[in-house]
Amino acid sequence: MKPTRYIVTIAAVLLLFYSGCSKNEDPSPSTAVYSVNGGTTSHNNGQICLSCHKAGGTGTYNFIIAGSVFKPNLSTPSPNGVLYFWSKPGGTGELVATLQVDANGNFFTTSSLLPAEGAYPQMNGVSGSVKAMPIPAFTGDCNSCHGVNEDPIWIN
Ligand code: HEC
Ligand code: HEC
Repeated sequence: MKPTRYIVTIAAVLLLFYSGCSKNEDPSPSTAVYSVNGGTTSHNNGQICLSCHKAGGTGTYNFIIAGSVFKPNLSTPSPNGVLYFWSKPGGTGELVATLQVDANGNFFTTSSLLPAEGAYPQMNGVSGSVKAMPIPAFTGDCNSCHGVNEDPIWIN
């Protein structure tokens, strides 16, 4: 083997090795969209998010869970809390899923976090207050009840 050809071969092997390694280091890309504490991309507090964010709706993303949370005055958004879903009432059983509330007091995700048998939502405010839904939610379209035929979800 001529020295030049030998060097090219080594370079090719190094390149393969390098690209192989960097591929392994990259986490597999996740396409799911989640609200995060501090996030400001959402809008339309209190409106029925899934009326637009559904297949065939005007919103690009089809949300599986989405809704809003307010302060006790039921009109000021309550930002940056955390929403838990439990398998049993009152924050008991298994913690099924966690979703952060954004800086606009909204939460949303395209991920199928809700199991078919439903789960018990529990809202946790930044002040430390906690409120649990006494019955399971079977749909993540929270604002289809809250703010329509139930009080809006609220927490301090
Ligand atoms: C009247 C229809 C409508 C309603 C109701 C609605 N949205 Fe939207 N939303 C849109 C449209 C249209 C866009 C812009 C296109 C897009 O990015 O999906 C959008 C964009 C968004 C985005 C930005 C997506 C991105 O590009 O990162 C978020 C987040 C969002 N909406 C959350 C919500 C939440 C949460 C609710 C309920 C509180 C809600 N939306 C209610 C129509 C709506
Ligand atoms: C089918 C209607 C319905 C849907 C959908 C629904 N809820 Fe509820 N929710 C209720 C009812 C009924 C109550 C009990 C009455 C009340 O406290 O408003 C309740 C209570 C709550 C409470 C406790 C309120 C309090 O003041 O103690 C929270 C928190 C809550 N729901 C969060 C959610 C979240 C988050 C979602 C979406 C994942 C959701 N709910 C979807 C009907 C619904």
